Amino acid sequence: MKKVQPISPKVPVFLHGADYNPDQWLSYPGVFEEDIRLMKLAHCNVMSVGIFSWSSLERAEGEYQFEWLDHVLDTFAENGIFAFLATPSGARPTWMSAAYPEVLRTGANRVRNLHGFRHNHCYTSPVYREKTRLINTKLAERYGKHPAVIGWHISNEFGGDCHCELCQEAFREWLKKKYGSLDALNQAWWTAFWSHTYTDWGQIESPAPHGETQAHGANLDWKRFVTDQTVDFCRHEMTPIRELSPELPVTTNMMDLFEGLDYRKFADLLDVISWDAYPTWHENLDDSKLAAWFSMNHDLFRSLKGKPFLLMESTPSLTNWQAVSKLKRPGMHRLSSLQAVAHGSDSVQYFQWRKSRGSSEKFHGAVVDHAGHEHTRVFQDVASLGKTLEGLSDVIGTFTPAETAIVMDWDNRWAVKDAQGVRNRGIGYEETLLTHYRAFWELGIPLDIIGSEDDFSAYKLIVAPMLYLVREETGQKIERFVEAGGTFVATYWSGIVNENDLCHLGGFPGPLRRTLGVWSEETEGLHPDDRNELVCLEANQLGLSGRFEIREICEITHSEGAETLAVYGDDFYAGRPVLTVNRLGYGQAYHLAARVADASFYELLYGHIAQKAGVSKVLNSHLPAGVTAQIRSDGEHDYLFLMNFSGKEAEVELDSADYADVETGAAEERFVRLGVYGVRILKRRARRYTHQ
Ligand code: GLA
Ligand code: ZN
Repeated sequence: MKKVQPISPKVPVFLHGADYNPDQWLSYPGVFEEDIRLMKLAHCNVMSVGIFSWSSLERAEGEYQFEWLDHVLDTFAENGIFAFLATPSGARPTWMSAAYPEVLRTGANRVRNLHGFRHNHCYTSPVYREKTRLINTKLAERYGKHPAVIGWHISNEFGGDCHCELCQEAFREWLKKKYGSLDALNQAWWTAFWSHTYTDWGQIESPAPHGETQAHGANLDWKRFVTDQTVDFCRHEMTPIRELSPELPVTTNMMDLFEGLDYRKFADLLDVISWDAYPTWHENLDDSKLAAWFSMNHDLFRSLKGKPFLLMESTPSLTNWQAVSKLKRPGMHRLSSLQAVAHGSDSVQYFQWRKSRGSSEKFHGAVVDHAGHEHTRVFQDVASLGKTLEGLSDVIGTFTPAETAIVMDWDNRWAVKDAQGVRNRGIGYEETLLTHYRAFWELGIPLDIIGSEDDFSAYKLIVAPMLYLVREETGQKIERFVEAGGTFVATYWSGIVNENDLCHLGGFPGPLRRTLGVWSEETEGLHPDDRNELVCLEANQLGLSGRFEIREICEITHSEGAETLAVYGDDFYAGRPVLTVNRLGYGQAYHLAARVADASFYELLYGHIAQKAGVSKVLNSHLPAGVTAQIRSDGEHDYLFLMNFSGKEAEVELDSADYADVETGAAEERFVRLGVYGVRILKRRARRYTHQ
């Protein structure tokens, strides 16, 4: 049996709960007592407390008030409710901004913010760091051993950058450490271009709208610095906490494919990854594209540590920050929540428990509405999900047997979007990831989302869409992976620059050229009305057939040993290779030279490639469009999640008689009917996977 331990030995069941802000209600007698009653009714066992409570904990500098929090946590303990205790640094008290303006963030335009909002402090400021250390130490001393506390929630949704003088200095120090000499920095940033050569470290400034934005290497380093500085701030927050409560796990809540921070750099620091998922369901009748996007995110967050994660926030009904806020249709709450579980979450938590009475989130969905009682549709949906989760304890800690991975590097993403090249609007990096991901999602093939620095050896198939930035070492690693028998897939606009955003010399795709067996001579962007076509060659070894529309990006390639599977059908490109495969050692490397517009192409392509690579689908049967199957396993049993995002009723044929419904225990019929937004969890004897 293979499982990881539950996040807390005190709660070996699914965590179900919400962000809870009792400090907003201190002058409303009875609300807290009523909340406790409602939490039990909703089958909630955990609350994230104190996320933005700094001014309630320290009303004036050095004057701490913990009595309200003592009461909350003690009452939780008496009632079998647990807490993630937050450090309050996501928003700071007004007195602090007034007394120490250096804690306020300075924008790229060099204007310092006034007090207001949240998530807007300088992570470098010694004052902010000291104030954070003090409050975190107090919290850890007082609550580090509290029976209700099961873990730490550091700050809230880290993000953004500060351009103050302190941050400029820290950036220069970071660069000195990285490059050693100005000469090396000038080479890496290609500063002879437009006479930007630096002759003194003090001349270096962060990117600014009225200053430097065109030095791509500098932009990349700034983003890396911002990540490092934020990780360092998070580590700083954790120091007293680790010292005073070493046994409590630590997390910080992340956001979906957040661009500003390379989340992989947080993975080693944290004990468990958690994130906040806010799908805006029902923009279309068929929700499958959005569902695939959120599945991809769940897979990313699971892959960060290669183990189950926590869904730290989600909305029980609607959000209030998009243009139009729609309610979750009946069934969607259960489907959306169990989707996270299917992909490796060991919790379902919400923002928020009780709707605030005022300010900007008063209309954001919550378990308890302004009406204040349990007789609401949303409350009942939450309570019913809580009951379902109580029956799923066997799933806690189980793993996801992915034999396939998609490569997504933050620095590649930053570089490919910053490049001024073939498409300055619509390079579509994330969209491209999703297109490739979605094909596997429709096929029911589990995926990990990994970085170039992760271990490749556990996978049979690795797909790297638009890997524009490729280090020499990454190229060698991919080569070894293929030589050893792996299957690799790359696309157009790959192997173009190195880690400093300097173009690879001697022919693209640079360090991938030998592996892919092609030389990409030219790449162009197509206008919105331009088309080309991918035409499968007869009797190609992958067994593909048909013609598929190409849009947006085309590359002219020459085979250097790769076999052509499909050619361009149009323009002066006609007859040139567009899909190739190269044999190297025991493996194969595919190259797709153009952006194919038909989603059906990718399903066909990956269906064939996966089969050849020996990658198993979780279910050996056809899944209707918009219906996916995901799996968690403990090595003895597999838990199969069938999920219907198509907006229509659907039917799935099982591939053996060995299935039982996890919730009822009843043996399952051969054909499973899924209603609109239907989800079923079935159990079978575990199958064998190579990656466990
Ligand atoms: C984020 C924050 C919460 C809340 C929600 C609203 O996830 O962490 O505090 O603002 O968004 O959707
Ligand atoms: Zn700063």
